[in-house]
Amino acid sequence: MPHAIRIHANGTPDVMRWEEVHLPAPGPGEARIRHTAIGINYSDVNVRRGGFYLARPPQFPLVLGNEAAGVVTDVGHGVSTVKPGERVVYAGMRGEFYEDTGAYAEERNVPVERLIPVPPGVTDQQAAAMMVKGFTASLIINRIFMPKAGDPVLIHAAASGVGLLLTQWSAHLGASVIGTVGSPEKARVAEKHGCKHAILYRETDFVAAVKAIAPQGVAAVYDGVGKDTFIPSFACIRPFGKAINYGNASGHVPPIELLHLAPKSLSVCRPGLSSYIRDVETMRTAAAEMFELVSKGALQIEISRTFPLRDAAAAHREIEARTNVGSMLLIP
Ligand SMILES: NC(=O)c1ccc[n+]([C@@H]2O[C@H](COP(=O)([O-])OP(=O)(O)OC[C@H]3O[C@@H](n4cnc5c(N)ncnc54)[C@H](OP(=O)(O)O)[C@@H]3O)[C@@H](O)[C@H]2O)c1
Repeated sequence: MPHAIRIHANGTPDVMRWEEVHLPAPGPGEARIRHTAIGINYSDVNVRRGGFYLARPPQFPLVLGNEAAGVVTDVGHGVSTVKPGERVVYAGMRGEFYEDTGAYAEERNVPVERLIPVPPGVTDQQAAAMMVKGFTASLIINRIFMPKAGDPVLIHAAASGVGLLLTQWSAHLGASVIGTVGSPEKARVAEKHGCKHAILYRETDFVAAVKAIAPQGVAAVYDGVGKDTFIPSFACIRPFGKAINYGNASGHVPPIELLHLAPKSLSVCRPGLSSYIRDVETMRTAAAEMFELVSKGALQIEISRTFPLRDAAAAHREIEARTNVGSMLLIP
């Protein structure tokens, strides 16, 4: 029987258990994937901790994780779109991310419409490291706000998983990227990937620093940090600019008083990935664009650390210590 990292209750990383799990033969429309690399995301921490999402209570025991790359080993009845031996990657299933997990496993059955072939120039590790984070960046850039050449943009946690892809993508489009980062090492990583001005926001007032760099204000703020940064960022945005919150690493954004947006006619948006990639064609188009950007070198997938799958708790501790950079992977 394959092994997986399961939780039987919400809690600290100590609730993560390495267990044997029963895996039936793939059903109609499914393929069995032997995972070779599993992406780690902040949402895995949220699901493990619990209490984050309000939709419905979790069904325990649950296997964590939303994305992985691997090899097809078997297919269910009627499947003709993938064959054993093919390299594939996936991110998310049919439902909401936090309700439809299961990637922290040696093997898994996946509906074939969610599987994306990994192109020859892309490694399994790169593919697993870039799907959730890349789709999030794609959602923000392609659907919410695409910066034009010369636009100043503010990207919080610019060396984080999503932040580093947003930084590179924005720089590739010619934007002038101002990034906040939690340490000098993260500043170096962000700058290596196109961030023009890295602000150490744990020790510097980032609002004053951004105003000094871009006195007219930034065209948009891309914010995955949430409580500590989102509302203060409004002061850095130019008239008609966009305030985009996509995550809550520091906690939930408090309620916003709409009237506070009026003086600068600001727009506020809170994109969610499930709404973007639930549609399979949209997901495939976005993946093709991301692979193209990777092959051109416009997006470099920074894999800072890998952990054996059975040590997934150590990766979660690193995220909670806020020391992670770029993407991290679990290797079965
Ligand atoms: N909307 C969506 O559909 C969607 C999709 C993907 C991810 N997300 C969300 O986006 C956020 C970032 O995801 P990610 O994968 O890029 O995460 P990540 O790589 O773990 O980065 C999170 C970063 O946030 C910063 N941070 C600030 N305050 C923090 C705190 N109190 N605890 C931990 N980190 C803190 C840290 O960077 P510094 O040290 O530089 O401050 C940290 O590295 C998460 O909230 C995630 O759930 C949302």
